[in-house]
Amino acid sequence: MSATYKRTLVTSALPYANGPVHIGHLAGCYLPSDIFVRYKRSKGEDVIFICGSDEHGVPITIKAKKEGISPQDVVDKYHKMMGDSFKEFGISFDVYSRTSNKIHHETASDFFKTLYDKGVFTEEMTEQYYDAEAKQFLADRYITGTCPKCANPNAYGDQCEKCGSTLSATELINPKSTLSGSKPVLKETKNWFLPLDKLQPKIQAYLDQHKDWKANVYGQCKSWLDSGDGLQPRAMTRDLDWGVPVPVKGAEGKVLYVWFDAPIGYISATKELKPKDWELYWKDKETRLIHFIGKDNIVFHCIIFPSMLMEHGEFILPDNVPANEFLNLEGDKISTSRNWAVWLHEYLIDFKDKQDVLRYTLCSNAPETKDNDFTWADFQTKNNSELVAILGNFVNRTLVLTHKYYNGAVPSAETYTKEDLLILEQLAAFPDKISAAIEQFKFREALAEMMNLARLGNKYLAETEPWKLIKTDETRVKTIMNIALQITCNLAIVSEPFLPFTSRKLFTMLNMPTLKWHAAKQTSNMASGHVINKDELLFAKIEDPEIQAQIDKLAASKSANTVTVIPPAKPETSFDDFSKMDIRTGTILEAERVPKTDKLLKLKIDTGIDTRTVVSGIAEWYKPEDIIGQQVSMLVNLAPRKIKGIESQGMILMAANSKGELSFIASTKPDFNNGSEIK
Ligand code: 2FM
Ligand code: ZN
Repeated sequence: MSATYKRTLVTSALPYANGPVHIGHLAGCYLPSDIFVRYKRSKGEDVIFICGSDEHGVPITIKAKKEGISPQDVVDKYHKMMGDSFKEFGISFDVYSRTSNKIHHETASDFFKTLYDKGVFTEEMTEQYYDAEAKQFLADRYITGTCPKCANPNAYGDQCEKCGSTLSATELINPKSTLSGSKPVLKETKNWFLPLDKLQPKIQAYLDQHKDWKANVYGQCKSWLDSGDGLQPRAMTRDLDWGVPVPVKGAEGKVLYVWFDAPIGYISATKELKPKDWELYWKDKETRLIHFIGKDNIVFHCIIFPSMLMEHGEFILPDNVPANEFLNLEGDKISTSRNWAVWLHEYLIDFKDKQDVLRYTLCSNAPETKDNDFTWADFQTKNNSELVAILGNFVNRTLVLTHKYYNGAVPSAETYTKEDLLILEQLAAFPDKISAAIEQFKFREALAEMMNLARLGNKYLAETEPWKLIKTDETRVKTIMNIALQITCNLAIVSEPFLPFTSRKLFTMLNMPTLKWHAAKQTSNMASGHVINKDELLFAKIEDPEIQAQIDKLAASKSANTVTVIPPAKPETSFDDFSKMDIRTGTILEAERVPKTDKLLKLKIDTGIDTRTVVSGIAEWYKPEDIIGQQVSMLVNLAPRKIKGIESQGMILMAANSKGELSFIASTKPDFNNGSEIK
């Protein structure tokens, strides 16, 4: 971080406009960036907060095809939906722009042209799959075929979702275009590449200046630079028809690579927000640029975009990229396609006016250093045992007693005891402790400190017991209640970045204007005689049925998404070939694990003919102790073979489902004797 800076430009990753916002997005970058910006604003710093929809890229065109609408219709729908739900959730962007608008097309186009004119790009001819029927080149996602690694017949040109391998389209067996169904052909095409290999020394020097970045971010960058041959040239143009047209001759029918244009979206959004002085935020050395992103975006923000900015020459470089890891949901990876997510727009309906409960849960559980899990049970506990029982309880007791004893007028502090002075000293120290954590992007720690202030208030009331003392020492109670009100007021200030809706309610109940961060270092913000407003409940308990409804919703999407893939039929075989196989019923007499393996069991089987040893790969699905006495079907005339040094004398037949789970096939009449033939 530069020692001094005059202003901060904060960006949050531009989400793809092909689906609604979910809690993974929020925990990844939108909530931490919002907390950071709200805190900076409260400190009175010059900060702007930039975001918008990423409206290009293949996922959007695929969605359009699936829904039978145009890509523009898709992005219009989701741009509005995302923008509305961010706003309702209190994500306080100064601008929420979009990359399909004119200003962005012009900005991205000019940026490309500048690099092109400077001779930054290399031009390369490569062979790409082309659909002759649809008359267009095919992005990897538009090609399916058989995975060369696991034989999954539905692998994509960039990845096999069954075995998880990263693929290139030319590796697929029997490739097929998803546009026309025809077999694509390889055709030469020219594209413009950013020579990251040549730029590696500059990137290395840039990263060397940022060893203070979060360990997960710096580590990932280093592994890109240090891996194999280091950085490789990357195409910045694509043969597609949806995106920003490539502004050079000979590039008709091509658009800018979505990862070239998307980060430039931060610049165009700033232009939209500040048409006159946007350059101050992008070109002045005293601006600090911070990108909040999720971990899948690290390479683009720490290597590719800085390379583009360096080669352009007029712009400042990112000073920090505090990326978070991923948030899982109930132990499983969040997935849009499997509908395994908590969707923000649905949350806002199901839990009306409870934005801060989700903000609190996501922040206290944020995947700052490693992947983390969101569970509905934890959400309920965070609300009932922390927000209601700690923060809500303290505020409620303080305000109710103020109304009861003083008709809502703040009592004056008379004489401070030693304990009071200690509380006031601790109270004044909170803002700096919270600041220190926020400045280091440790939002969980900052939030925990904020709650510690409410804990301090509760402890103070519990120890001084003003409700008992009121009968004997009214003067002392005035001082106690004055201090409790000062704590409440400072809570309204320091909770604002995390819980803006709660903070607003607190200021309203206290009948105070919104105070800025520095005021929280004071311990006398509530003047004596000031009359507060009526109190209302800050947080309500969340009951079990509300949580169960959410769990049921998830269970429904899990069962709706259990796809059954039926493998295609094998080629015909002759009856003679089939009847060569001697398949019998048998019973497992003994079973034990094969040492040093995860999958194998050694079984002793009574085949009716004899007793055999068989090694079987079923340990993932069956425990040895559970299968003694299990009837099985077994191929008994398979030539013996050695597995892990054990001779296996036959094969147990198993049914395998599409998830790869195995199940015994046994006679439905359990009294069938061992050795019965299976024909
Ligand atoms: O991963 C994503 O959702 C991308 N659309 C993020 C883009 S960030 C930036 F470069 F615009
Ligand atoms: Zn595969």
